[in-house]
Amino acid sequence: MSFVESESRLDPIIDSFERTHNNLRIGITDRCNIRCFYCMPNENIKFLQHKDILTFEEITRFVRVVASAGVNRLRLTGGEPLVRSQLPTLVEMLAAIDGIEDIAMTTNGILLAKHAQDLRNAGLDRLNISLDTINPITFERIARRKGLEQVFEGISAARDAGFARIRINAVAITGIAETEAIPLARFCRDNDLELRFIEFMPLDAEKNWDKPQVITGDTIRKLIESEIGKLESVPPLYPSQPATDFRYLDGKGRLGFIDPISQPFCSNCNRMRITAEGKLRNCLFSTVEWDLRSILRNPDSTDAEILNCVRESIAAKKAGHGIDSEDFQRPRKSMHQIGG
Ligand code: GTP
Ligand code: 5AD
Ligand code: SF4
Repeated sequence: MSFVESESRLDPIIDSFERTHNNLRIGITDRCNIRCFYCMPNENIKFLQHKDILTFEEITRFVRVVASAGVNRLRLTGGEPLVRSQLPTLVEMLAAIDGIEDIAMTTNGILLAKHAQDLRNAGLDRLNISLDTINPITFERIARRKGLEQVFEGISAARDAGFARIRINAVAITGIAETEAIPLARFCRDNDLELRFIEFMPLDAEKNWDKPQVITGDTIRKLIESEIGKLESVPPLYPSQPATDFRYLDGKGRLGFIDPISQPFCSNCNRMRITAEGKLRNCLFSTVEWDLRSILRNPDSTDAEILNCVRESIAAKKAGHGIDSEDFQRPRKSMHQIGG
């Protein structure tokens, strides 16, 4: 009997600031079918080889181990998770794990029309779709590829497949959001989609991030209130959620703001990440990683070793991202390699 099977409940994964980690974000791949400038380079990209990324069995074993210590919420990210084949099979494997209560995925939506129903049937609970604009020209400027029509088709298919409360993620960047935010907010309000604006973080592969490019959630909120309608704040669905949520006073629609730069939410962080190549990161901005793949691939390794590695990583977690501090160092990896 393995370590995990012999214990029904292990100690939760808690860091030195008493934050309990029950949320795991899983990088499925570092590949993507578009090239958004705030995330990926446009060319000369060195992608991981297939042999270097965790197999579905390795991911499933890892999740089973951390679930025994209280991880109950999963998010599949990337890169673009849907460029990895057979993803519904992984979802099914994860949904069968004891203790897993919620499986979500963040996708750019381009391949969603084809896969939405299979993902839903496999047990995917929630979908966040990245969409920064409803203008095809601006879409191509950001993504450096075409694809807006497919994203619209993906959203419709997701709804037809039975996904409720579909969220739209929009990265807000100076020079773009001023014109795109209002049409996007109207589109989401009219189509019953919950929009979330995310402040631009220094995780772009081309390292062009710069503070003046950050347009704060507060600025967007004021713009929306003056152009569309008044908002009132609503309590968070989960105390550790990154977003601050609002609803329109007329009752039609909700939206939220993820403000890691102007209003860091690190003190409530419950998240850890495993990259596609099996490195554990205790923070989006961590500059150190813990090599789980080599433990998972060692035929003699025990579940206890896996969990010890996780505990060691979380014990070393810093209080926050420190973007504003003088000695802030960007991680070497960019968003598509980390998993949003
Ligand atoms: P739900 O509330 O469950 O929908 O999850 P979520 O807000 O984590 O959703 P999603 O993964 O779509 O996150 C949206 C964006 O918020 C991410 O892509 C990141 O840009 C940002 N974000 C999510 N988690 C963190 C985090 O731990 N730290 C920081 N700084 N940003 C985060
Ligand atoms: N800053 C903020 N959000 C980002 N995302 C990707 N790169 C950045 C960045 N530099 C978001 C995308 C997607 C999620 C995976 O991360 O919009 O929703
Ligand atoms: Fe957690 Fe790091 Fe994100 Fe802060 S920046 S909320 S510590 S993952």
